[in-house]
Amino acid sequence: SSTRPRINVVGTGYLGATHAAAMAEMGFEVIGVDSDPAKVAALSRGEVPFFEPGLPELLRRHVESGRLRFTTDLAEATALSDVHFICVGTPQQVASFAANLSYVEEATAGVARNLTHDGIIVGKSTVPVGTGERLRSLIAGLVPDGVDAELVWNPEFLREGKAVEDTLRPDRIVVGGTSDRSEAVLRAVYAAPLATGTPMIVCDLPTAELVKVSANAFLATKISFINAIAEVCEAAGANVSVLADALGHDARIGRQFLNAGLGFGGGCLPKDIRALMYRASELGAFSASSLLQQVDEINMGQRQRIIDMTLDACGGSVLNRRIGVLGAAFKPDTDDVRDSPALNVAAALHLRGAQVVVYDPEASETARRMYPTLSYASELDDAVAGSDALLVLTEWPEFVDADPARLAAIAGVPSLIDGRNCLDPAIWAEAGWQVRSLGRPTVHSAVASTAAPFTRPAWASAGRLVAAH
Ligand code: UDX
Repeated sequence: SSTRPRINVVGTGYLGATHAAAMAEMGFEVIGVDSDPAKVAALSRGEVPFFEPGLPELLRRHVESGRLRFTTDLAEATALSDVHFICVGTPQQVASFAANLSYVEEATAGVARNLTHDGIIVGKSTVPVGTGERLRSLIAGLVPDGVDAELVWNPEFLREGKAVEDTLRPDRIVVGGTSDRSEAVLRAVYAAPLATGTPMIVCDLPTAELVKVSANAFLATKISFINAIAEVCEAAGANVSVLADALGHDARIGRQFLNAGLGFGGGCLPKDIRALMYRASELGAFSASSLLQQVDEINMGQRQRIIDMTLDACGGSVLNRRIGVLGAAFKPDTDDVRDSPALNVAAALHLRGAQVVVYDPEASETARRMYPTLSYASELDDAVAGSDALLVLTEWPEFVDADPARLAAIAGVPSLIDGRNCLDPAIWAEAGWQVRSLGRPTVHSAVASTAAPFTRPAWASAGRLVAAH
């Protein structure tokens, strides 16, 4: 009917579901394939099985228009399509830092086997460098006679919480290992973002694979860098937030990803840097692997520092103390709790005998599935009420905008640990809180309180904000 390539998207998680909906938005006929019948059923009803702002509306619009549909039948989807995007996961292996490539191999082989006419297989999953070359040999033995299949790599850089925006308006498009023919097809597929000036980088297969993991490794390094500096700030009585703002004005550095605190988590950054660490050392590139090992260690150390700070705030032990934890998601605007630093800290405090009450505006259900033994509050106030210490571990707007005076009135002890440096310590101290954070001076309550678990230093004049470290 039309000359536009028909699109097959294999794997409908964050990446695949968003990519499929975005391709439909750009005017293509799209089929999404997933082996999970429940996921396919939900998506077919226009329901997104995870929290991603803007995606349900986009998906529903194109499911209703008939341009987008979902199936568990890979053979059918492959036979009906010309461009096949591989969007399945590459989780960390059990008992190893290496990536588990079995889903990518299975999906690619499945497409190759079921091709009924010439097609382009486009890898989007995040893979160790060298995977594309191996997949080429794999498919060479599987593609039916008389059918021509090409494999190229086109990494995806979307952020959770901004997936729709990032997919419709990417910063750049990277395609690796293309022939003239597949490059032309991909230019047609991405005609909309290319028309608005999005740069396209055409390169070889290993470079395309490496761009993705290097981008994530750089972001992770930036976060661990500022967290390492935060430790120096803390020891020296400096303020890492002010320092980061000052650094950020240098255009070569930039302010983004310089927020010190609990560090990075989620389904991508931690596993991607570990996979690169592993792959780099396999390749004998030991500088990269040792750098990334430090980045990982600094990052995991931040969780311990927040735990230690909480112990300290509670006078050395959290046994039977009530700890309010605000935030379970690995970052705001998602219900994803994979490798969430917030939940990790909550669980560790629970193990030390604390009564932990977690509140998250979106992620309570996913958190409960992962840590069923923690208590979950359905309202912010229920996590704060009667707490001996309150931890802000994910910087949701609801916490940033909360009224510190109202919360001080319901807390048991107004002792706050701002694990994301997202609150203004002066304002919270004015409302009666003692505020601790990583890389900023502790600010004592401006309100004289018998409940506060600290002794005001002799040199501090009552009623004034006092910075100490
Ligand atoms: C990341 C990459 O940004 C994205 O390009 C890639 O495609 C997938 O991995 P995502 O996992 O959605 O995206 O999260 P991101 O927004 O990058 O945040 C990662 C983690 O870093 C979060 O836990 C966040 O809290 C933390 N972070 C971020 C900091 O600790 N400090 C910062 O300054 C920024």
